[in-house]
Amino acid sequence: MSDPVIDLQNVSLCYRLAKQRNVSIKEYLIHFVKGALVYEELWALEDIDLRINSGEVLGIIGPNGAGKSTLAKVIAGVMKPSRGKRKVQGTISPILELGTGFDFELTGLENIYLNALMLGRRRREIERELANIVTFSGLGDFIDAPMRNYSSGMIARLGFSVATAWVPSVLILDEVLAVGDVRFVARCQERIDSFREKGTTILLISHAVQMLLDYSTRCLWLEHGHVRGDGDPKSVLDEYAVAMAPRLESVPEAAED
Ligand SMILES: Nc1ncnc2c1ncn2[C@@H]1O[C@H](COP(=O)(O)OP(=O)(O)OP(=O)(O)O)[C@@H](O)[C@H]1O
Ligand SMILES: [Mg+2]
Repeated sequence: MSDPVIDLQNVSLCYRLAKQRNVSIKEYLIHFVKGALVYEELWALEDIDLRINSGEVLGIIGPNGAGKSTLAKVIAGVMKPSRGKRKVQGTISPILELGTGFDFELTGLENIYLNALMLGRRRREIERELANIVTFSGLGDFIDAPMRNYSSGMIARLGFSVATAWVPSVLILDEVLAVGDVRFVARCQERIDSFREKGTTILLISHAVQMLLDYSTRCLWLEHGHVRGDGDPKSVLDEYAVAMAPRLESVPEAAED
C-alpha cells in the first residue's frame, strides 16, 4: 500500500494563555523582566494519531472548541505541533477560519495575489488564472474594494476561489461553505466533485451533518482534543448525534410568568 498523504503521529498542540491582563506594553515589560508572566496551558490537541490516504474525503465534526480548526492548522503547516510528528505529501490548499491569510486593508484583487503567492504560486501563474478566479468568486465590482467592506460570504467566496484555482494534493475546508449562499455553495460542490475525481484528498470541517454524510468517505469525531470516533461516516455521525442530544435537551426551559 502507498504511503498516506497525511501522517500524524502522537501530535499534541498546546496554546499558552497569559493569565494576567497587561494593560500597557510597559506593564508587560515589567512583568517580563521580573519573570512574573504567568501562563495557563491549554492542550487543544492531545496524542492525535491519524493517517489519511490519497483520495479520501475526511469529514471532521465535534463540538465548539473540540480542536478541529487547530487540527486543520497543524495539517496545513501553519502551526507546529508542540509534540509529535507531522508529515504531509504534495501541495496543500488550506481555507482556514474565515479571513485567515487576507489583508483587510487591501482590495480583493490585491488579496488574490497575496493569497496565491502564499500558496506558492508564481506571479505569471496567478496572472494566467486571475480572470477565472475573479469570475468564479462572483464578486463583480467588489473585487476592487478593500476587503474590510466585505461580508462573511464574500470573504469565503474569495478564499475558496483562490485556494481552488489550482488542483492541490490536499484541500482543507474549515467551515467555508457555512456562510455561502445556495448558488455559490452549488458551484463549490461542483468544484469539490471535480477535485475528488482528480484524486485530491479533502478535509471537510463542518457542523452540517447532512453535508458530511453526502461527501465524506470517512468521518473523524473530535472532542476535547481527542479522537472520539473515526470510520464510516454514517456510524460516526449517528453516534455523535446521540452523544450531543442530551446536551440539547438539558437546556433549561424559559420560566413562565
Ligand atoms: N489562538 C488561540 N489561543 C489560545 N487558545 C486557542 C486559540 N485558538 C483556539 N484556542 C483554544 O483551543 C481549543 C480548540 O479550539 P479550535 O478553534 O481548534 O476548536 P474548533 O473545534 O475549531 O471549534 P469551533 O467548532 O467553534 O470552530 C479551544 O479551547 C480554544 O479556546
Ligand atoms: Mg473551528
